[in-house]
Amino acid sequence: MQEKREYYEAYDDRYKQVHEKQLQWFSNINSQIVDEIINKYEITKEMKIIEIGCGEGRDAQHLIKKGYSLLATDISPTAINYCKSNCPEHANSFMVLNCLTDRLSSKFDFIYAVAVLHMLVLDSNRIQFYRFIYEQLNENGIALICTIGDGKKQSSTDISTAFDLQPRTHEQTGEELCIAGTSCRIVNFETLYREASENNLTVIESGVTSIKPDFPVVMFAVVKRMNDLISMRNIGKELKKKLQYAGIATADKLKQIGSYEAFIRIKSHYPNVCLVHLMALEGAISDMEYNQLPDDVQERLKKFSDSLK
Ligand SMILES: C[S@@+](CC[C@H](N)C(=O)[O-])C[C@H]1O[C@@H](n2cnc3c(N)ncnc32)[C@H](O)[C@@H]1O
Repeated sequence: MQEKREYYEAYDDRYKQVHEKQLQWFSNINSQIVDEIINKYEITKEMKIIEIGCGEGRDAQHLIKKGYSLLATDISPTAINYCKSNCPEHANSFMVLNCLTDRLSSKFDFIYAVAVLHMLVLDSNRIQFYRFIYEQLNENGIALICTIGDGKKQSSTDISTAFDLQPRTHEQTGEELCIAGTSCRIVNFETLYREASENNLTVIESGVTSIKPDFPVVMFAVVKRMNDLISMRNIGKELKKKLQYAGIATADKLKQIGSYEAFIRIKSHYPNVCLVHLMALEGAISDMEYNQLPDDVQERLKKFSDSLK
């Protein structure tokens, strides 16, 4: 009996159906935005790079040829076998990996994913995608996410039809094919920023670009990890644990919501937290020892803390 497959695995069918006809679905033209970001953020050939969802290997082959140290991954065994046979001398650079469930022991300086996120329709899957990036990035690493869309419109396909055969025109030959429909969720920038931030990633830059001929209109975002709470003044292991339990996992998140909101959230789980904790949070945000806060600030915090009693 065949195991139940997830809707986002439908590209495996599409690759099989297209390759049977001795065709390739995507072009061999690499995405310019990947090169641009590599140059701009000075990603060197010695740094560790991983591609999520490399497909038939447009970008991977380009970077491997240029001498970058790349691991190119995809959930589709058909795609990975295809890449290996096209690039036999670098077969070890390609690997089947489901970024939603698999993890690697090494971390990466640069992660990129071109036209993968839009395939993930369910919020739960999109969270898993961002988590992979968060967990596999080095402390100072960056990730480039390219996803179909113009940054304004939003739409979703019905995931129950992802494997259904649909008529599609083959871009390079004009041939009419009947292939798996796959899935697509287009979000706007507001959603993309919110998703990144909820998963502890900061967007450093974003925009709309074109990856011709495969993806004429694409949003891109360069993200990095929000920094660790423990790097903040007054935050020791205990307070970090409380903050994390209350859903505040990073320094950026704490700064974003402020000391009052963080205090309220912690208090709902730990009713015994007191003024000293609130002062510690305020000090962490303003980078001051909690007992060195100006008198007027201490007074304001005391009033707030008393109001919650
Ligand atoms: C639209 S294609 C883009 C392929 C390639 N990046 C390109 O631009 O030519 C999306 C790719 O994401 C892969 N993919 C979908 N879900 C995935 C997952 N959970 N983990 C890894 N790859 C995935 C698909 O198999 C497919 O090859």
